[in-house]
Amino acid sequence: MKLILLGPPGAGKGTQANILSQRFGIAHISTGGILREAISACTPTGVKAKGYVKRGELVPDEVVTQIVAEKLGDERVKNGFMLDGFPRNVNQAKNLDSSLKKFGQKIDLVVYFQTSPNVSIQRLSGRRVCKRCGANFHLKNMPPKKEGICDKCGGELIQREDDREQTIKNRLKVYEEQTSGLIEYYTKKGLLQTVSGDLEAEQVYKELLKKFDDNNKIEE
Ligand code: AP5
Repeated sequence: MKLILLGPPGAGKGTQANILSQRFGIAHISTGGILREAISACTPTGVKAKGYVKRGELVPDEVVTQIVAEKLGDERVKNGFMLDGFPRNVNQAKNLDSSLKKFGQKIDLVVYFQTSPNVSIQRLSGRRVCKRCGANFHLKNMPPKKEGICDKCGGELIQREDDREQTIKNRLKVYEEQTSGLIEYYTKKGLLQTVSGDLEAEQVYKELLKKFDDNNKIEE
């Protein structure tokens, strides 16, 4: 299955992508995750992206399009992938269409996580991530067993730099201005399915499975 997860910051795209990739073995391609790794390794891409990510702005289209095109060419994604955080504007969506065409592939389904702004803000301000393995927690919604320590690897939990109040506001504004137009883009293509991102993670997962089932995308 070739899937796009679309929705505002904090909608729970990454959380569900992690569950789905473990459950179904589908490759999870997170442009935000790839950019953060590049930034911490100070690669040329990371150097280019750093300021944009810190301010909550979109990294230039050519940088992210190149990252995704390289991933799509990888043998390991031939049988299915989930794009999390890409595309983020119509230009990126069109670039994606062209890249997929080159590889003889197409998107099967776009899942839109419809989420209230207040929920996004609460989720992002309470999110903590493991410095070592990247695992995701939330101070209230999904707390670690031991405060400040990752359940999975024992690493230190930190707040993402772009999860500070001012940057969260900017990310939500950027989403409204540049990304939300993709809902119409994919509706017109007949690919869009909506789930409620406001629900508890387990409920969202159940809604996702139902959408896959209704669209004959995955056998449970
Ligand atoms: P990116 O990393 O993609 O950030 P985002 O889209 O803003 O999404 P998030 O990771 O913040 O949220 P999420 O929906 O994955 O929520 P999560 O599951 O973590 O991008 C970061 C930056 O990189 C961008 O600002 C931009 O600069 C750059 N970038 C990336 N892609 C780009 C592109 N294509 N073009 C240009 N620039 C790009 O959940 C959030 C929290 O809530 C967690 O703490 C979690 O534990 C909790 N939670 C999750 N689900 C639930 C639930 N159902 N109930 C309760 N709590 C929940």
